[in-house]
Amino acid sequence: MKQLLQRLLAIENFDVFLVLGILIFFGLIESFAGYLRHSKRKKGDWLQEVMSFFLLSSGIKPAIVASVYILGNTIYPEGADLLSQQSFIAVFLGYILIDDLLQYWYHRSAHEYPFLWKLHRSHHQAEEMGFFVSYRNALLYYIMMPNIWWVGCIVFAGGAKAVALGLVIKQAIIISSHSRIKWDKPFYQYAFLKPFIKVIERVIITPSFHHAHHGTSMLDNSSDPNANFGNMFSLWDQFFGTAKFQTAYPQEYGLSKKTEDDWTAAYFYPFVKSKDKKSDWHRDFELTRTSTNEALKVQLTKGESYLWCACGKSSQQPFCDGSHHGSKVKPLKFTAKRTGEVKLCNCKATKKSPFCDDTHLDL
Ligand code: FES
Repeated sequence: MKQLLQRLLAIENFDVFLVLGILIFFGLIESFAGYLRHSKRKKGDWLQEVMSFFLLSSGIKPAIVASVYILGNTIYPEGADLLSQQSFIAVFLGYILIDDLLQYWYHRSAHEYPFLWKLHRSHHQAEEMGFFVSYRNALLYYIMMPNIWWVGCIVFAGGAKAVALGLVIKQAIIISSHSRIKWDKPFYQYAFLKPFIKVIERVIITPSFHHAHHGTSMLDNSSDPNANFGNMFSLWDQFFGTAKFQTAYPQEYGLSKKTEDDWTAAYFYPFVKSKDKKSDWHRDFELTRTSTNEALKVQLTKGESYLWCACGKSSQQPFCDGSHHGSKVKPLKFTAKRTGEVKLCNCKATKKSPFCDDTHLDL
């Protein structure tokens, strides 16, 4: 094993070959399985993803690494090769764990803060999963990505080989978790395999874990777009309380609020804006409070589940329409205990959510 690793590390640009190999591998399987032939993806989806992949790997990453290198040599020249004398395993583990932690918080922040959400939104617009979806984000999202700058620091300090190996492992996990090849499905179907997946999914991000994050609505019991922010390891989601392990896959992918955006707005926002007035990328887009201090009477059906809007900005009050994306608020899922009319809170200050407790009378 040690010899194999040494041989691999000795091959020049082995990481580039392996990452391309992983992409081709998943691309071929998806094509042979007929996923691409039956795909409803538009030309703009492909244009954005292919351009994003090439610009990220041959423009943004090399430019950031070179910038950190020049900056490091100017302000801290003693730091160059700081890691080259250290144990490879220690450098590798230190690099990869910090990289993944940074990406967890960056990704989570992109769901909790409006500006970052707009840079990440196109990732969630994809209505079909696929190996290339992992590269679907705005250009600025990648330029600001803290872990790419972290890669620059490690390379500057002499840890380039550790970065290269980490990159291959990371890409293999990320591409597989976005892919339509649900390799973990048999593990949930056959009882004798279940103990294995219980261990695997507590270490790395599996397709079911990440697909749940791309699912449209929590109502299908397999989706939760407000959970599972991890990229490589599920460790951080478990540690910070955002892990939702699933045993099935979402019924629908993408955002619940549909807009007609050109791929250029998706990729070049905020430099290019959308023409669709309903879109978060339109120049006049603003989310305003739609809820009022008046409870709403709605008809519910016993046993049916609903998503109650907690943010107060849905256009379908008192129910959620996905407008909470880009904030820390998430909808409340509840199941009706009886059929009939109920008063749901619309001031969003109730202590008995989703039901009205007359708090609005004191507001
Ligand atoms: S729109 Fe989803 S919580 Fe308000």
